[in-house]
Amino acid sequence: MPDIELIVTEAQPATALIRHLRLAAADGSALPAFTPGAHLKLRIPGLDDPRCYSLIHLDPSTDACQSPKQYRLGVRLEDASRGGSRHMHALAVGDRLMANGPHNEFALHAAETGEAPIVLIAGGIGITPIASMATALAAAGRPWTLHYSGRSRDQLAFVDELSALGADHLTLHADDDPATRLDLGALLDGLTTTQHLYVCGPTGMIDALIDGAKKRGWPAGHIHFEHFGTAAPHVGDQAFEIELAQSGMVLTVPADKTILEVLEAADCDPMYDCKRGECGVCTATVLEGTPEHRDYFLSDAEKAGGKLIQICISRAKSPRLVLDL
Ligand code: FES
Repeated sequence: MPDIELIVTEAQPATALIRHLRLAAADGSALPAFTPGAHLKLRIPGLDDPRCYSLIHLDPSTDACQSPKQYRLGVRLEDASRGGSRHMHALAVGDRLMANGPHNEFALHAAETGEAPIVLIAGGIGITPIASMATALAAAGRPWTLHYSGRSRDQLAFVDELSALGADHLTLHADDDPATRLDLGALLDGLTTTQHLYVCGPTGMIDALIDGAKKRGWPAGHIHFEHFGTAAPHVGDQAFEIELAQSGMVLTVPADKTILEVLEAADCDPMYDCKRGECGVCTATVLEGTPEHRDYFLSDAEKAGGKLIQICISRAKSPRLVLDL
């Protein structure tokens, strides 16, 4: 898919931390269509990897997805920004940037006869793909509810437009308000396992939702999620060695790097896509050693088997892994 050059047509604060941007094709041509949950990959000057930003669609009365005149993004200024969100927050009307997409790895399932309400759950800036889903479901007359959670009420963006989709479908949650703080366990207890769950937000929220839903018997195919960002080190992560069986090369994976990053630095050419442990592209076979699985792709049985690893995110419990690479 070729890159598109975009021009900023509007840049406004949506909250103290979230910037709302509108982007049009720099040459005035039509923009590619997208579906709810889709994102753009934006090339940020000075950064090797593109940054992914979900497309916001909040107007059910227009064909804003099918023939968009502008793309809308919401960008949170990250505390630990490596330049992506800082660059996006510094953009002004008239600035240009290169984009690839739209891509969609978080698409809504097709309507089912007599379907139960679809449950959308957003944490923080995770509202951007979820808002587009709410809009599409409202426009299609499908049943839905949206739980939108943030650290405080004033950190929740696009609330007026979300309310306009159907205020009785929307529940706002604020961590600093005990009366509205999101209780995922209680939420799941009030649902049935036939309902589809869509969640986007911080890793802790997604992990808790997946864990809670699995414990309550939800089929994996009804739990849909998307993370932002890439693999982040955990407190207490240790260095370990990898041996590449096909070349005999031995490399050290430091505590703050992934196997994938170490392979790239060593001029190997590993396959990858999401770098979040979701897509499955980077799967490698483990010949020796014990992986520490951190991905969302392998099944519980595959993880227990210990013969496969997602090298973009998972690490090692043993001092060395021998990989069939
Ligand atoms: S690159 Fe997607 S799971 Fe590793």
